[in-house]
Amino acid sequence: MLMVNRMDNNFEILAFAGSLRKDSYNKALVKAAAGLARGEVTIDIFDLDGIPMYNQDLENDVPARVKEFKKSIRDADALLIAIPEYNRSLPGVLKNAIDWASRPYGDNSFDDKPVATFGATGGSIGTAVAQYHFREIAAFLNMHPLEKPQMFVTDAHKKIEDGKIVDGETEKRIAEVVEALVKWGKRINRGK
Ligand SMILES: Cc1cc2nc3c(=O)[nH]c(=O)nc-3n(C[C@H](O)[C@H](O)[C@H](O)COP(=O)(O)O)c2cc1C
Repeated sequence: MLMVNRMDNNFEILAFAGSLRKDSYNKALVKAAAGLARGEVTIDIFDLDGIPMYNQDLENDVPARVKEFKKSIRDADALLIAIPEYNRSLPGVLKNAIDWASRPYGDNSFDDKPVATFGATGGSIGTAVAQYHFREIAAFLNMHPLEKPQMFVTDAHKKIEDGKIVDGETEKRIAEVVEALVKWGKRINRGK
């Protein structure tokens, strides 16, 4: 499909977290990132709540929430995904949402999308393993992951309280990830 350059300078990021938990640390990262958006950059948050379990029988009549998710991804200039780590991989909630948006065959909403990831855990490896697993999926779906800065938030309970970042270094790092994603996304999208 031929993509047309946007006529305006706006850069729209779609952000989501792979957690449904109300007090999710990863939702807090996404919310903090959205709060940093200024000027030409907007960051919209999509909540994965309401996306049903993937069932190929439903592909001919895709659930409304999945349609919404696919459209939001397609309309975005770049994606920002907060990845919790479950058993050294992605949570099923996130993998399920990715599977839906990659389908039906030939309609992969992630195709050619710039993407950055970050993640938070109470543990000490900071979601690094889950984020690296994501990169294998991203390669297959032809996304374009930002390489640096990487962001692995360890001991999240000390840095995030009541859904807010209370650690200056973490706040600074979020801003750096967003800034780098905007630059990266513009580079990737320039040729479209
Ligand atoms: C099923 C399950 C498996 C988990 N496995 C890991 C893990 O492999 N590595 C890790 O650092 N934390 C692990 N955790 C802890 C989560 O990272 C922690 O619960 C985190 O707060 C989840 O993200 P959220 O706050 O955004 O919901 C696991 C938690 C659950 C519920």
